[in-house]
Parts: sequence; structure tokens; C-alpha cells
Amino acid sequence: MTHRYACFIALMGLSAMPAAAHAALAQPSDWLLASLSGAIEHHIAGHTAWHARLMVLGWGILLPLGALAARFFKIMPGQDWPQQLDNKAWWHTHRVLQYAGVLAMTVGLGLAWGLGGRRDTAAQVHAWLGWSLCIAGWAQVAGGLLRGSKGGPADARLRGDHYDMTRWRIGFERLHKSLGWLAIALAVMTIALGLVIVDAPRWMAAVLALWWCAFAAAFIRLQRQGRCIDTYQAIWGPSAVHPGNRRPLMGLGVRRYTVAAWRARCGRP
Ligand code: HEM
Ligand code: HEM
Repeated sequence: MTHRYACFIALMGLSAMPAAAHAALAQPSDWLLASLSGAIEHHIAGHTAWHARLMVLGWGILLPLGALAARFFKIMPGQDWPQQLDNKAWWHTHRVLQYAGVLAMTVGLGLAWGLGGRRDTAAQVHAWLGWSLCIAGWAQVAGGLLRGSKGGPADARLRGDHYDMTRWRIGFERLHKSLGWLAIALAVMTIALGLVIVDAPRWMAAVLALWWCAFAAAFIRLQRQGRCIDTYQAIWGPSAVHPGNRRPLMGLGVRRYTVAAWRARCGRP
């Protein structure tokens, strides 16, 4: 029964596609300016609009870009690694973007305060996902601040959570990276649901879809270029003298290089 019902809905959806495609091709600007449901008029309260803008700024732009910087720019293009170690460009970029993103999110939440009263499923799921993302955002900042000490030869003390790769540091890396990327993936859905519940204009959904495609393409390209380098190596170099280099490599898609392999990758003699 459920199966027949699903087939019926799918067929209805498919039969509507040629009409939608025809309308989109005949008057592309009218089609894009209309709302997702097809209505020409679009009204949205001022504070809801600012809630949406700030959330898109935070979870749609700043936080994903900050995560991208942390993943792929531990060694900057053109940096003479391992002669030049511990380039902090990614670190400053990550903190500035993540603090700004969480600030935008917090102000955006203040504007949504009390909005979560609707009974339809989309609005309820949006509110639940939204609250989970806000908690995740604050937890990421708390985790970042509690990541432990650094240590290492350039520090006054050689010992440190990161240099020694203590259980605390290992736990931080696992949790912070997985929660961060999971939250970014959930943000795509939460933003899409937000657009649906306010019946936003189609061009907004189209621009956001293009943006997420560009982000995914940049991610895949940087990953394929072998730029997701082990943080430990980027900071202290590849020598086995350092305790962290004697541990197994951690993290999906993370790479370690020998000096020769890095030079070959960069086309240097
Ligand atoms: C005070 C704020 C923060 C600090 C100090 C901080 C610190 C760090 C550090 C040290 C790393 C590198 C981990 C490693 O590769 O070993 C990192 C990576 C990462 N951070 Fe944060 N972070 C902060 C806020 C956030 C927030 C709010 C998010 C929310 C999405 C976030 C998402 C990520 C992600 C996804 C990665 C992993 C990137 C990768 O795949 O390598 N961070 N962060
Ligand atoms: C990742 C980004 C977003 C997050 C984290 C988020 C978070 C939230 C939260 C936590 C609530 C419930 C507030 C409460 O309990 O009082 C909420 C409600 C709402 N949000 Fe968002 N939001 C996001 C993006 C958007 C976008 C892009 C739009 C519109 C285009 C939007 C429109 C709304 C509306 C209309 C409500 C009220 C829902 C209702 O009537 O129950 N949100 N949002």
C-alpha cells in the first residue's frame, strides 16, 4: 500500500517536471523571481529575514570556509616546507572565521527566539536541527579553547599535549573534526528547510545550490592535490625524532610526506 502510494507521488512529481521546465525556459527571470511554491508575492517579517541572512552568513559561508582553511592550508602554496615550519596562516584564518561565524549564528538565534512555534513538520525539524547546530557551534569553540597545550622544540617546554600526542589531544582532534564536518553537512539541510518554510524566492535556492556545488568542487580538488597534510608534520616536520611522527596517522584522507615526496609533489629539485 505504502509502496503504491510512493509510486503515485513519484509519478505525479515526474509528470509535473515538463511543465516546470517549460515555465523555467519560457520566462527564466519570472520563474526565478517567483517563490518556491510558485506564488508571485513573497512576504517575510524583518527579524525572520535577518535570522536567515545571519545564519546563511555563519553556517553557509564563514564556518565552511574556516574548516576548508584548517584542512587544506596547513602548508601554504609556495611555502618551502620543511625548511619553513609552522606557518600560522591557517590557524589565524580558522579562528577569525569560526569566531565570526559563531557570533553571526548567536545573533541569528537571538532573532529567531520564540519563532519556533509552528506545528508543521518542516518548521519543527528546522527548529530541532537549528538548535542542535547552535549547540554544536558553541561546543566547537569550547573544544577549541580546551584543546590542551602545544609544547615542542620551539616552545619553552618540550612536553605538551600536541607535541606528545596525548590522549587528550587525540580525543580533541577526533571529536572536533568529525563534529565540525557533520555540523556543516547538517547546515546545508537546515538552510534548505528554512527556505522552504518561508517559501523563499527560487533564485535564493538556486544561488545557494550553486555555492554548495562550488564548495564541494573546491574540496574535492584540494583533496586530490594531496593538500590535506598531517597537522603534526606541518608544524614540526617529518623527522622521526618527534614522538607524534612515530604514531599511526589519524584522520580520513590525511597525508604524510617524506621531504623527497613533498619536493616531487611541488615540482622542486
Ligand atoms: C576557538 C575556536 C576554535 C579553535 C581554537 C579551533 C581549533 C582547531 C584546530 C587546532 C584544528 C586543527 C585540528 C587538527 O588538524 O589537528 C581545527 C580543525 C577544524 N575545526 Fe576548529 N577550532 C575552533 C572553532 C571551530 C568551529 C566553531 C568549527 C565549526 C564548524 C570548527 C570546525 C573545524 C573543522 C571541521 C576542522 C577540521 C578540518 C580538517 O578536516 O582538518 N572549528 N580547529
Ligand atoms: C543553519 C542555519 C540556521 C539555523 C542554525 C537556524 C536555527 C533556527 C532555530 C534554532 C529556530 C527555532 C527558534 C526557537 O526555538 O524559538 C529557527 C526558526 C526559524 N528559522 Fe531558522 N535557522 C537557520 C537558517 C534559516 C533560514 C535560511 C531561514 C529562512 C530562509 C530560516 C527561517 C526560520 C523560520 C521561519 C523559523 C520559525 C519556524 C517556525 O515557525 O516554527 N532559518 N531557526
